[in-house]
Amino acid sequence: MAEVTLHNVTKRFGTHVALDNVSMTVPDGSFVVLLGPTGAGKTTTLRLISGLERPDSGEILIDGRPTQGLTPAERNVAMVFQQYSLYPHLTVRENLEFPLKSPLLKTPKDEIDRKVKAIADILQIGHKLDNKATALSGGEMQRVSIGRALVRNPQIYLMDEPLSSLDAKLRADLRIELKNIQANLGATLLYVTHDQVEAMTMATHVGVLHHGRLVQFGSPREVYEQPVSIYAAARLGQPRINILPADVFPGAPPRAVSMGLRPEHIRQGQGEDSLVNRVERLGDQTRLHLSFRGLSLVTVTEPHTALRDGDIVRIEPSNPLYFDADGLRLA
Ligand SMILES: Nc1ncnc2c1ncn2[C@@H]1O[C@H](COP(=O)(O)OP(=O)(O)OP(=O)(O)O)[C@@H](O)[C@H]1O
Ligand SMILES: [Mg+2]
Repeated sequence: MAEVTLHNVTKRFGTHVALDNVSMTVPDGSFVVLLGPTGAGKTTTLRLISGLERPDSGEILIDGRPTQGLTPAERNVAMVFQQYSLYPHLTVRENLEFPLKSPLLKTPKDEIDRKVKAIADILQIGHKLDNKATALSGGEMQRVSIGRALVRNPQIYLMDEPLSSLDAKLRADLRIELKNIQANLGATLLYVTHDQVEAMTMATHVGVLHHGRLVQFGSPREVYEQPVSIYAAARLGQPRINILPADVFPGAPPRAVSMGLRPEHIRQGQGEDSLVNRVERLGDQTRLHLSFRGLSLVTVTEPHTALRDGDIVRIEPSNPLYFDADGLRLA
């Protein structure tokens, strides 16, 4: 496996700047998750690394070697696309074998059979191997796409929301499997998701994209606990971080305009200052939607709380994050 480095990479589509001077290193053996809302430049980043797009300026290195002029095949990357792309006239087995049958690889037949079976079992599609790709559900097609990447031995895996069309149980299973596969292979993986749990549990590093700029790159914990801005803070955490005027509680530093409070950093104290608008019971946790001095807040409490809609509580904040007028974090 290999390290991937982007040096000041810019990509324009017409006048639109999709990636703006991005520099980033995906370390060898890491699992890097790219976060950002629609249009932030996540897919563009993957397509540039895979060689499907060329940067307008800047450089991309795989394993220390410049990729300029290399075709996608020569880069030896395996990509799982956001829109899964299977060969419809082929069976699941043939789709999975395809990358291994490349004349360059010369993989022996029994090894192909063994690999295809192993990957199909992990992805829970072993019983569909003889189905045509067109005779599959969306989630099954998505798993075949993942399988086609996994049977190969690329320098890096690029995956664009690979679990998004799966049901909750399968998604949870495959989250664990993918993480195991990555850890066992020591694979380098660059992964796009909108799912908080995937980002927090799978990533060794998180990159936050905002209008094509990489605004933060660090461990999930670092981005969660030490976000550089309100924007970065809002990318991780479910329920989302609460953003309030800085002066609703004492102790704001000079220049602070907003304060951010993670839901788990709002505790209940003795007294009354907030109305419980709604108690939302999720089973493993209960969320309280509160009104505090005309502001809306969300906090989490024990699953079996006796609180009910309409109750009055008092809240005590801890670990506040402060932001300036531009939404940038104050130390
Ligand atoms: N081939 C293209 N031609 C023109 N504009 C493009 C092209 N591909 C991407 N863009 C634009 O570049 C920007 C970034 O697109 P990109 O696909 O990287 O976003 P994304 O972060 O993957 O979003 P999503 O979460 O919706 O998949 C968007 O504004 C998009 O409209
Ligand atoms: Mg995309």
